[in-house]
Amino acid sequence: MSLCVLLVSSCAKKSAEDRFIDDLLSRMTLEEKIGQMNQLDPSYESEVKEALIREGRVGSIFNIVDAKEVNRLQRMAVEETRLGIPLVVARDVIHGYHTIYPIPLGQGATWNPELIEQAAQLTAREAIQDGIRWAFSPMVDVAHDPRWGRVAEGYGEDPVLTSTMGAATVRGYQSQGMAACVKHFAGYSVSEGGRDYNTTWIPEVQLRDIYLPPFKAALDAGAMSVMCSFNNMNGFPSSANPHLNIDILRHEWQSDALLVSDWGSGSDLVPHGMCADKKDAALRCINARMEMDMEGNIYTDYLAELIAEGKVKESQIDECVRSVLRLKYRLGLFDNPYVPEDEPTFYSDEALAAAQQTAEESAILLKNDGILPLNIQHPTLNILITGPLADQKKEQLGTWVFDGQPEHSVTPLEVFRSLNISYEPGLTYSRDKNKAGIAKAVAAAKKADVILFFAGEEAILSGEARCRADINLPGAQAEMMDALAATGKPVVMIVMAGRPLTIGKQVEQAAAVLYAFHGGTMAGPALFNILTGQAVPSGKTPITFPKMVGQIPLYYNRHNTGRPSYDPPMLIDSIPIGCPQFSIGQSSYWLETPTEPLFPFGFGLSYTTFEYGSTRIDTLPFREGQGVGYSLSCSITNTGKYDAYEVAQLYTHQKSGYMVRPLKELKGFEKVYIPAGESRTVTFTLTDEQLGYWHESHHDFASKVWFETDSADYEVWIAPDSRCQTTPVQLTL
Ligand code: GLC
Repeated sequence: MSLCVLLVSSCAKKSAEDRFIDDLLSRMTLEEKIGQMNQLDPSYESEVKEALIREGRVGSIFNIVDAKEVNRLQRMAVEETRLGIPLVVARDVIHGYHTIYPIPLGQGATWNPELIEQAAQLTAREAIQDGIRWAFSPMVDVAHDPRWGRVAEGYGEDPVLTSTMGAATVRGYQSQGMAACVKHFAGYSVSEGGRDYNTTWIPEVQLRDIYLPPFKAALDAGAMSVMCSFNNMNGFPSSANPHLNIDILRHEWQSDALLVSDWGSGSDLVPHGMCADKKDAALRCINARMEMDMEGNIYTDYLAELIAEGKVKESQIDECVRSVLRLKYRLGLFDNPYVPEDEPTFYSDEALAAAQQTAEESAILLKNDGILPLNIQHPTLNILITGPLADQKKEQLGTWVFDGQPEHSVTPLEVFRSLNISYEPGLTYSRDKNKAGIAKAVAAAKKADVILFFAGEEAILSGEARCRADINLPGAQAEMMDALAATGKPVVMIVMAGRPLTIGKQVEQAAAVLYAFHGGTMAGPALFNILTGQAVPSGKTPITFPKMVGQIPLYYNRHNTGRPSYDPPMLIDSIPIGCPQFSIGQSSYWLETPTEPLFPFGFGLSYTTFEYGSTRIDTLPFREGQGVGYSLSCSITNTGKYDAYEVAQLYTHQKSGYMVRPLKELKGFEKVYIPAGESRTVTFTLTDEQLGYWHESHHDFASKVWFETDSADYEVWIAPDSRCQTTPVQLTL
């Protein structure tokens, strides 16, 4: 075949996108290329920001939320620069834009990806009206440590649940024309001590089994961008980690998504202690193919110099610029860079209804002695509404809310005022230590038939750099619960928080406990519906609830250890005084508590009850290239009197293997609606690949990892939660 034909055929193979990008790139100067790698926060004074844009030194700008302003700046980029390359406008749209949905941890508790995808679609429709075409979410950091403030921002402790919810959010955003940005790549949630930005040490096989799968799922769902994480993983801050950003993201996964730094995470390499100065930081970042510098100015300040010194090749810049141009091309910005300046529509009935549904399905019923649902038809039922979170329009929105307006929030108190209720907050905010108001709440409680105690955390106590070393109820809430419980009246505790809290004592004192996380704009109507039985709770814990902070990290898919804790262990107060030096129990537990959590992963009660039949396993017909597959099914009966959703979960346990395997692993789940008295069959497919894991070997200073499924014996459950109290089926591969 002649060279000419070869060229034609290779050109013919090039997509229109590639041809467009190649052509534009070929016409760009080095300064224009570096400009595309620069992302600006608009807090600069106008003339500086506008000069940079007119000089083509800005590729993206974020935190502008006005179509007119976006168009004004966009006209500078499109009509006043040499090549007219449009800006892409970004924003932290994390769990809603104006209409706020539950925090992502609450979204994880819904176990309903279709609902989360719809929420993301509606969110994107709101944000795009203001010119926002790039959302800095979903965050898919699998988190085991509720001390970490950003546990609020992810979908919990499991890679399968997190992967499913993250991918749903990506599809939702991008179906409406807003690019997703899956973050933070990678391992950020493993920060030592649950302290934000702290060091992480993550073995390669654990990185690949637990922390990377949600990123791959989001990219497989089409995520158009990825954000570097702040943390140093095994000595390499992610912005300068070629193993993550090149070996895995580009070579293994073949991703063409744009990789953007986190805010200044490139220049952070200096305080990290990796780089002597910001010029060195720019070199390490470009050599790890961090492609856009968010608010770090290290690329605009040093890349041209590094190229002139021969330390960086222009081809490295070209790779990064391609990613930036590709994102803009795929968003259609070259053809339609401007935003219609019509009056935006926020808080539509559709969005508010979806926000309420999501808030209803994110609430987890953790305890109920029968007090719930409240019989509000009772003619004289006197309800006391109390607690620091009962009427907090802003706090119920949760962390990472810049555009949701509290005045649109509907609080639980506002909805309950339609009934015969009394209201005494007792405490005025979650950290309130002033107990003076508790007496009035107690006096009102004595006259009430039931007490609804809205407890928890203000929004500011979770999120970025909001880590807690103690995760009890803040302020004087525990004392307030003591006083309310002492009245002898039934207390229903509703918790609004950004993390699991160690509420074991309050759970014992309460007649019922509903965990609502921060439920967003429509938290009030959602909680009213659940508490009064107009909605049946279906939420399940997306993360383990520890009994005490000293148990952390505590998660369901842990190893058994060689000395598993037997129960009951000899706890500290049962050790005889003068006890001689002898082992008080050759097993793995703490003297203050066994290993059991307060509430396990995947747990949640309903107003009805469900009975699981036996699990049936069938081998699937052989399918070319798809390995061995099994079908697992189970009939679930609603044995109570409420129509309700149940979340059936598929767990496996590999009983022996090349390496130690976890006690349980979630492999699938299905949220199914079952009318009272009826049965539904859930069916899961399980493949041998799903039973595989990353293996590791070290020989002669060379280590290697590989993915493989062991020939082994497995147990498989279809169960209501990770305790797997149903009868497993045995499977041998
Ligand atoms: C913050 C966060 C990141 C966010 C970015 C832009 O520091 O780590 O998640 O998207 O900066 O605000």
